[in-house]
Amino acid sequence: MIAVMNQKGGVGKTTTTLNLSHALARSGKRVLALDMDPQAHLTIAFGVDNRKCHGLDEVLLERNSVKQCMFEVRENIHFLPAGVRLGEVEFIRQGGAKRGYILKEALSAIEQDFDYVIIDCPPSAGLIGMNALLAAKEVLIPVSGDFLALHGVSRLMEIVGYIERSLHLNFEKYIVLTRYYQRRKLSQQIKDKLLEYFPGRVLATPIHETVALAESPSFGKTIFEYRKTNRGAKDYSTLADDVIYRRTLA
Ligand SMILES: Nc1ncnc2c1ncn2[C@@H]1O[C@H](COP(=O)(O)OP(=O)(O)O)[C@@H](O)[C@H]1O
Ligand SMILES: [Mg+2]
Repeated sequence: MIAVMNQKGGVGKTTTTLNLSHALARSGKRVLALDMDPQAHLTIAFGVDNRKCHGLDEVLLERNSVKQCMFEVRENIHFLPAGVRLGEVEFIRQGGAKRGYILKEALSAIEQDFDYVIIDCPPSAGLIGMNALLAAKEVLIPVSGDFLALHGVSRLMEIVGYIERSLHLNFEKYIVLTRYYQRRKLSQQIKDKLLEYFPGRVLATPIHETVALAESPSFGKTIFEYRKTNRGAKDYSTLADDVIYRRTLA
């Protein structure tokens, strides 16, 4: 179970969840994708009308089961949309520490039906993010090539580290370079710094900046449906293999 997480917005969490899910499904893996962002961008990107479905809002507000709300959105991909009331989850007051484990518990009944459960997290570190983290075994952190990116990753690693220590958990933490420009100095510098600070954690394949990746969601399509021969499709296929075989840069 992978939480795609970064409290910074616009780093490629949703793009990565969408296309990594499809890439894994295309290589025969059974995938469950979850849209945990109240903005429902992943839901829209899959071409699903968020207003018309039962979603994670009902699951987290404990009004419905995962099984009732998920459906097959593509071959080998089941999907749990955000639902219109997901934002309300941040305001759950009852339940104490148990509030953080609602998703974990809800998924326990169906988890074994899938090879990968991939969670698109919101750009914040609230109760929704906590539910994603506590359900997950792995954290995938997309990092885009701007100068504040490093600061954000260090902070997120600190938060995750704090949770690991206080709850005696251990997450596999991986970083994926997104919106990468080969020839841009800044992209190179960020990559070098990440390798220095987080050795063995940076997945081998960077996702290059390509217009098609930004365009495809507005058609409700993944990159494999929108432009199968695009660089982005190749990058995400290779990234899926990195995830399967745990290939990282040295
Ligand atoms: N590799 C990429 N190349 C070009 N545009 C990208 C790429 N990755 C993401 N984008 C675009 O950047 C914006 C933010 O990406 P998104 O996946 O929505 O980030 P997040 O979910 O972290 O907020 C979107 O407009 C998206 O289409
Ligand atoms: Mg997003």
